[in-house]
Amino acid sequence: MMRRLWAILCITAIALVSVRPARTMPADVQVRRDVDLFHSFGRYLREKLVHGREVVFDRPLVQFFQRASTQGEWFKHVLKGLEGYFPFDPNLSGQLSLFFSALVEGTWFEPQNNGTCQCCDPSNPLYAYHVHIGMTGNAGEVVISYNTQEKPPQSCLYVAEEHTSNQTKFCTEDVRTTSLGSGLSPFLCTGWSGYASHVKVNGLQPGKRYTYTIPGSPGNVSYTFMAPYGNTTKTTKLAYFTDIGTKGGEPVINTLLSRLDDFDYMIMPGDQSYCDGYHGCFDAYMKLIQPLAAQKPYMVATGNHEGPWNFSYVRTNFYFPVSESGAAPDALWYSFDEGPIHFVMMNYENYFDYPDGEWSMTQPAPISTYPGQIEWLRRDLEAFAKRREHDPSLWLIMMAHRPLTCNVTDKSCNHFGPILEQDVFPLMYEYKADMYWCGHVHAYERVSPINNVTRELCSDCVRDNATLYYKPPYPVQIMNGIAGRAVADNDYFTPGVSYPPFVAQHYSSINYPYGGYALVSVDNNVLNFTLYNTSGAVLDHFRIEK
Ligand SMILES: *[C@@H]1O[C@H](CO)[C@@H](O)[C@H](O)[C@H]1NC(C)=O
Ligand SMILES: *[C@@H]1O[C@H](CO)[C@@H](O)[C@H](O)[C@H]1NC(C)=O
Ligand SMILES: *[C@@H]1O[C@H](CO)[C@@H](O)[C@H](O)[C@H]1NC(C)=O
Ligand SMILES: *[C@@H]1O[C@H](CO)[C@@H](O)[C@H](O)[C@H]1NC(C)=O
Ligand SMILES: *[C@@H]1O[C@H](CO)[C@@H](O)[C@H](O)[C@H]1NC(C)=O
Ligand SMILES: *[C@@H]1O[C@H](CO)[C@@H](O)[C@H](O)[C@H]1NC(C)=O
Ligand SMILES: *[C@@H]1O[C@H](CO)[C@@H](O)[C@H](O)[C@H]1NC(C)=O
Ligand SMILES: *[C@@H]1O[C@H](CO)[C@@H](O)[C@H](O)[C@H]1NC(C)=O
Ligand SMILES: *[C@@H]1O[C@H](CO)[C@@H](O)[C@H](O)[C@H]1NC(C)=O
Ligand SMILES: *[C@@H]1O[C@H](CO)[C@@H](O)[C@H](O)[C@H]1NC(C)=O
Ligand SMILES: *[C@@H]1O[C@H](CO)[C@@H](O)[C@H](O)[C@H]1NC(C)=O
Repeated sequence: MMRRLWAILCITAIALVSVRPARTMPADVQVRRDVDLFHSFGRYLREKLVHGREVVFDRPLVQFFQRASTQGEWFKHVLKGLEGYFPFDPNLSGQLSLFFSALVEGTWFEPQNNGTCQCCDPSNPLYAYHVHIGMTGNAGEVVISYNTQEKPPQSCLYVAEEHTSNQTKFCTEDVRTTSLGSGLSPFLCTGWSGYASHVKVNGLQPGKRYTYTIPGSPGNVSYTFMAPYGNTTKTTKLAYFTDIGTKGGEPVINTLLSRLDDFDYMIMPGDQSYCDGYHGCFDAYMKLIQPLAAQKPYMVATGNHEGPWNFSYVRTNFYFPVSESGAAPDALWYSFDEGPIHFVMMNYENYFDYPDGEWSMTQPAPISTYPGQIEWLRRDLEAFAKRREHDPSLWLIMMAHRPLTCNVTDKSCNHFGPILEQDVFPLMYEYKADMYWCGHVHAYERVSPINNVTRELCSDCVRDNATLYYKPPYPVQIMNGIAGRAVADNDYFTPGVSYPPFVAQHYSSINYPYGGYALVSVDNNVLNFTLYNTSGAVLDHFRIEK
């Protein structure tokens, strides 16, 4: 979620460093000045963090960041967002750590980010970075993805059953790169370089644990994972979050790392980072999530913040099972099965607005705008319906980054939701989706099953004080946009506004500044859904019984 924020910031201003806004100068000199300034700002903050001394913000420095550049816009947005936290963490070092997070979001102090935006460390050109695994929907199959600075002569890795040494070699021809990204002057880098290898590993025994090794120099990279079940099991457990952000997402990442036994894979419908086309920054996000995503399959849909440069970062670095799900090779939508669930990932993000790859504010467009998406969706749902005729215990969960029905004071709910519903509702209801998942708005809201035409609550399906949906005839909708910290903004819930009975539960990210995520476990006839914050408090819990 991104808003245009032009507000002047009120930040205590006492001289800090003797940097002044730049006057007119040649573009290359300007870029250099920006780089130096970003670095000195980052260094200054780190030093202060280390020494824990009191910190103040220099008004000219802040004004510098507010210049009319896209980067300035982004930083302004972050500053504004951070300002919103002050009531929650009013001490200066608290503010400081949030500013520090904002800098990490922009990778302004990443040492390699010196204007060239290399994906990886050029002194170890074949070492594997940003390792993550994905599923294809086939039992015993994963795709292991990673970046290298140079194109490997052969992209191969080795897989063995955990604790054994009998390795099998898997190689790929699927090695991608992009020339699109990462920004314009005065951005820190003017291009992205690197390669993404996507190695398909199959023939594994579902549920068994395996260790993979990506050979490299100065060392190998190795992780252990569980081979997915595809549709060969009747139970499944997963984590679901959106809108996480670089650095801002760290508390959720760390929490999930501390409870690895509670989920087998992760579902993330959009806004992984808030890098907005800054590929060096997205790399920083991938570095943060690697310890998690390299051992738990990480399935993503695309949000507005993945959009700039025609989604080139995710297109390059993520393997979407499009061929497995009958979608076009460049589709940003796909489906897959795991356990009894058929997951459908869709995309509403309008990238036609910036054919040159520049960031501009995105507006969602109906899914029928994208060539082939609605036709694919209908085919996919039709095929699923046939399978469900034979096995009524299957579940259908559809998702995209943006909400359909929701009830916060926000354009996404008031204006865009109803437009997007027009495409998706008829199919979602016709094919009896059990749930719709999304994020985008940095809030959590649960929408009980409502009729798609009358918008009346299902009769007698809401039970036990809305903790049970019993044989619901319509989907339960969840907007779960509270995973992030540095980017969380705005209190969407206006005091005194009444919510309709179908909005069973709502939270604004502003009240949970350290992030939230859901754990979902499913069997033949029950889906348990629990929303946690990173202290472990249960913010919401319900179940659906078929
Ligand atoms: C100030 O903020 C820091 C960093 O968020 C936190 O660790 C510390 O507990 C806070 N101190 C007080 C007195 O709130
Ligand atoms: C940027 O840093 C990398 C090492 O991290 C180096 O190889 C490269 O030459 C540097 N580029 C510039 C323009 O300074
Ligand atoms: C299970 O998935 C496989 C593909 O992995 C597919 O061929 C098969 O039809 C599916 N079976 C059912 C019952 O859905
Ligand atoms: C090693 O693994 C391969 C493929 O998984 C298998 O065919 C072979 O029998 C295994 N060898 C030993 C000694 O376990
Ligand atoms: C890296 O992995 C390969 C393949 O398993 C192995 O042959 C090699 O010895 C490993 N290197 C190191 C340094 O562990
Ligand atoms: C975006 O990239 C895809 C995949 O490369 C390509 O098919 C499509 O034409 C591109 N769209 C625009 C607007 O550049
Ligand atoms: C929530 O929905 C109800 C009924 O649709 C509407 O009257 C109310 O204005 C909405 N509230 C907000 C904050 O959008
Ligand atoms: C409502 O759902 C039904 C299926 O239950 C579907 O046929 C119809 O097209 C939907 N109408 C709208 C306006 O979404
Ligand atoms: C019902 O749920 C609401 C909201 O979660 C809660 O405030 C209320 O105390 C619950 N009532 C009972 C009787 O459990
Ligand atoms: C989690 O929620 C509990 C209960 O609302 C609250 O006391 C706690 O401060 C929250 N923790 C975080 C990190 O948001
Ligand atoms: C759902 O939660 C209930 C109550 O905790 C538990 O008994 C049941 O086994 C759970 N079912 C699944 C599929 O997780």
